[in-house]
Amino acid sequence: MSKKTEQALVQSVWGWHFNLLVRDFLPKNLPALVLAPMQHVTDLPFMRVIARRGGPDWFVTEFIRVHANSRADRYILRSITENQTGRPVFAQIIGSDAAEMCRMARELQRYDVAGIDLNLGCPSPTVCGKSAGGGLLRNPPAVDEMVGALRDAIAGKFTVKTRLGFADEAEFDSLLPIFQKHAIDGLTIHARTVVDRYQTPVRPVAVRRAAEVLHCPVVANGNVVNAQAGWNLLAKTQAAGLMIGRGAIRNPWIFEQIRHVGQGLAPKALTRRDLLSYISELYEEIAKETRDFDEKLHVQRMKKTMLYIVQGLGEETEQAMRRVATEVDFFAICESALDNSCPLTDVPPEQSKLFCGFRDLLNPRSEVERQIVAAKLWCARRFMAAVGCIQWCCPKVWNALRGKWWRRMAALYFGFRVKRWKK
Ligand SMILES: Cc1cc2nc3c(=O)[nH]c(=O)nc-3n(C[C@H](O)[C@H](O)[C@H](O)COP(=O)(O)O)c2cc1C
Repeated sequence: MSKKTEQALVQSVWGWHFNLLVRDFLPKNLPALVLAPMQHVTDLPFMRVIARRGGPDWFVTEFIRVHANSRADRYILRSITENQTGRPVFAQIIGSDAAEMCRMARELQRYDVAGIDLNLGCPSPTVCGKSAGGGLLRNPPAVDEMVGALRDAIAGKFTVKTRLGFADEAEFDSLLPIFQKHAIDGLTIHARTVVDRYQTPVRPVAVRRAAEVLHCPVVANGNVVNAQAGWNLLAKTQAAGLMIGRGAIRNPWIFEQIRHVGQGLAPKALTRRDLLSYISELYEEIAKETRDFDEKLHVQRMKKTMLYIVQGLGEETEQAMRRVATEVDFFAICESALDNSCPLTDVPPEQSKLFCGFRDLLNPRSEVERQIVAAKLWCARRFMAAVGCIQWCCPKVWNALRGKWWRRMAALYFGFRVKRWKK
């Protein structure tokens, strides 16, 4: 199937999907695009900067920790109360005590939130050790209790962001009935297990299964590094939308580019100077929001975000950015690497620690096709190994067999007729 036909097919499926599952926060005829919540990154200034570059359909705050008598973090609250981007904001909560989580959900509903989102994916050992975030997935009955209690406490929209399980994708089968039973309003699936953390390829087949069985919209998350990867993930999962995290830090135009590709337009071509203007704007916006501005602390804060942005700009720039301490040096590094009209590389380097395992998504092949190719390769390797063994270990048998049958077998596996190796 050609790429265009595949995209047309995917779009027509969405048309149907949206007519049936109308939710007032979903766009019509295009996939929903969501900025992933990211601690210490997706704050109010970041949301502003990203919204000016096309931006997502809605935001989710970084997680608000909930424990006995905790109050919502005031800085995170500002990304709801002072958000003038015009996009809805979901407040995300994380914790292990269902009663406390309900208390926080009620408190947050007093603000102008689009809904409450439950974090069931954080892989941090501290968080998991307290049976919160991804740690809760080890105990499906506790997930059931938590989701049920929150559903009762939340009058508006209640969404969940989950991984496929704690250690094994098979655990997902026990989670899906829980989400269905409590009629959540949306499910975002970071298509890895908690143990996978961030490095492995994602597993679109599991997301597709959820999209097929659940009544609520399913949003696919993980490894969308460019517009093509986004459309491929949508085609492979049949999800109603995409949530994008690291890819959006590195390329804040990614939402607009995905929409353009969906409308049959060429995605906006970007230069390094565009990236420089994004960095400068982010620097200013974050500075504006910082109460007692301290240059060194500010540069340290920027570096957390910059580590994602500099991926692909060369080893030298990456190293310099890790060492930088002052504003002057910060902008000197940025300008020397970016004050030019060179085109921006579309994808980050594949083997970087912060981005990896996304190669599969750049390939429009479906998961089933991919598995068939992998199985063929596996058989071919075993077959060749067996032929090699016979040749070296049992020359007599080899001489008896070297007629034609093995060449036919090889032709079957490889899809072409192999030539005789040697006489
Ligand atoms: C720096 C960082 C902070 C994150 N913080 C949160 C968070 O607060 N809540 C959450 O649900 N996920 C959090 N995540 C996970 C992301 O939302 C997302 O699921 C993950 O990065 C995979 O998506 P991506 O490949 O598009 O980045 C965080 C990820 C990163 C890299």
